[in-house]
Amino acid sequence: MAQFESLIWTIPVILVLVSIGSCNACGRAEYRIGDECCPMCSPGNRVYKHCTEFTSTNCVPCVDSTFLDEPNSLIKCKVCTNCDPDLGLMVKQSCRPSSDTVCGTLEGFYCLDPTKDGCRAAQRHSSCKPGQYINHTGTTSTDSVCADCPGKTYSDGSFTVCQPHTE
Ligand SMILES: *[C@@H]1O[C@H](CO)[C@@H](O)[C@H](O)[C@H]1NC(C)=O
Repeated sequence: MAQFESLIWTIPVILVLVSIGSCNACGRAEYRIGDECCPMCSPGNRVYKHCTEFTSTNCVPCVDSTFLDEPNSLIKCKVCTNCDPDLGLMVKQSCRPSSDTVCGTLEGFYCLDPTKDGCRAAQRHSSCKPGQYINHTGTTSTDSVCADCPGKTYSDGSFTVCQPHTE
């Protein structure tokens, strides 16, 4: 019985050790294909042919609005992001083989979903109603802030200061 129990534990332990051993065999900038540790392709390139015992990885550049921004073992490049004007976006930095498009906000819009150096979705600045003035002009990151005109003053909604009524 004790022998059987130790056998039940031994098999998984061996399997775990074997799998750790084979993972460790490839370096950080390498990937495994069968028995080979192939060098990864550098950013801007994808795998055209995996390495063999005799040849290194064959890499080719990303073309036609595709990119890869990390060392990789991929056989296809990723499609570049499209900056959709319907989402209030425009191109801030064009797509390159080694980096995706960076989108910015269109004039008169503010970002709803910021990224590290761009924006994923934007919305048009609120327009102020007649009787209101623009207390804070909208920016690329904040909406405009409207406030009611005090007392005997007016604004058509586009003023930053309310005008006195003329008698
Ligand atoms: C206008 O903006 C200022 C500065 O942020 C704020 O103190 C003030 O309350 C705002 N006015 C109105 C009427 O909301």
